[in-house]
Amino acid sequence: MTGPAIQVRGLSKRFGSRTVIDRLDIDFAAGQFTVVLGSSGCGKSTLLRAIAGLETVDEGTVSIGGNDMTRVPPQSRGCAMVFQNYALYPHMTVRENIGYALKLQGLARHERMRRIDEAAELLGLAEMLDRKPAQLSGGQRQRVAIGRAIARRQRVLLFDEPLSNLDAKLRHDMRVELRRLHDEIGATTIFVTHDQVEAMTLADQVVLLNQGRVEQADTPATLYHRPRNLFTAGFVGTPPMNLLDATHEGDRLSVEGGGEVRLDRRTANATPVVLGIRPEAVLLHATTGMDATVEAQEDLGSHRVIYARLGKQRLLVTEHGPRTLRPGQTVRVGLPPQAISLFEKASGERIGHATGDVPA
Ligand SMILES: Nc1ncnc2c1ncn2[C@@H]1O[C@H](COP(=O)(O)OP(=O)(O)O)[C@@H](O)[C@H]1O
Ligand SMILES: [Mg+2]
Repeated sequence: MTGPAIQVRGLSKRFGSRTVIDRLDIDFAAGQFTVVLGSSGCGKSTLLRAIAGLETVDEGTVSIGGNDMTRVPPQSRGCAMVFQNYALYPHMTVRENIGYALKLQGLARHERMRRIDEAAELLGLAEMLDRKPAQLSGGQRQRVAIGRAIARRQRVLLFDEPLSNLDAKLRHDMRVELRRLHDEIGATTIFVTHDQVEAMTLADQVVLLNQGRVEQADTPATLYHRPRNLFTAGFVGTPPMNLLDATHEGDRLSVEGGGEVRLDRRTANATPVVLGIRPEAVLLHATTGMDATVEAQEDLGSHRVIYARLGKQRLLVTEHGPRTLRPGQTVRVGLPPQAISLFEKASGERIGHATGDVPA
């Protein structure tokens, strides 16, 4: 059974005079994994809590499965939430922690035990059911918190930065596990995080928030390859997209401190633009292009990040294969037109749709 669709319409929340979420319209498709991405303080937890019913809102509606839930108490919304700090009961065993909400719900003992065992099986906790939280690692505690949500069999799962307390290796393993779990149980999942790697790897849809507003809601590939504006372009991707000041005139793009690129689009007047290009899309040792000066490089084992300069502008390029560059060297770089995202300098909005196709 697939979880319900969720719609947020015109949703606003203020704390005092401060607007924390600002007229949000978001669609969470039925049974999909949506990641709400944004830096600390942008309103992610407030949005999640408003959907769960743990926070009242000032304007707008939340509907779940086509029903207006805006004034419905949390326990009647059909959502289970996993909190960032796990919030386990320290004096209870894993079994009791997972089963506690079921007990409050008044479920019979045999049904509780069945659900606890099933959740424990799914999460690899079967051997640990008699332990207390203090006898578990961070990753195991996190799995108990998830197990507690799953055992409630709600069709909506809400995760508030559940992996941010884990170390890098565990975070990676838990990401894979969470996605598998989602595909297995088919609940509508909303996962909020500041970590773009989690967003890119987990999501069917990413909603990028900035100061309580949606900057872009799209698939990870679209967000990455066709950012709608400079905010998204700068937020998504490590190392980040190069954003170079340039002028578009006729079919030429003149990069400040660099050279020219020919485009298959024309503009009547000289327009100040920002040229966006991913570090991995820049060609090194190109036959035509512009000269860049290498300043430094970072070796990450599988590849290197080259820090170069075009006049006063910084250009990042990733290089795979054998090392060919040294600091101080000049290298000709090519900026393939099909890999370029163009933004209007004044508004920061993407121009047109012809560039930067999303790979299948
Ligand atoms: N109960 C509250 N009272 C006043 N301000 C709050 C409250 N909860 C959150 N805020 C503020 O609202 C903003 C958004 O918070 P939050 O939704 O927790 O952001 P995020 O989860 O994206 O880090 C922050 O500036 C935070 O300080
Ligand atoms: Mg938060």
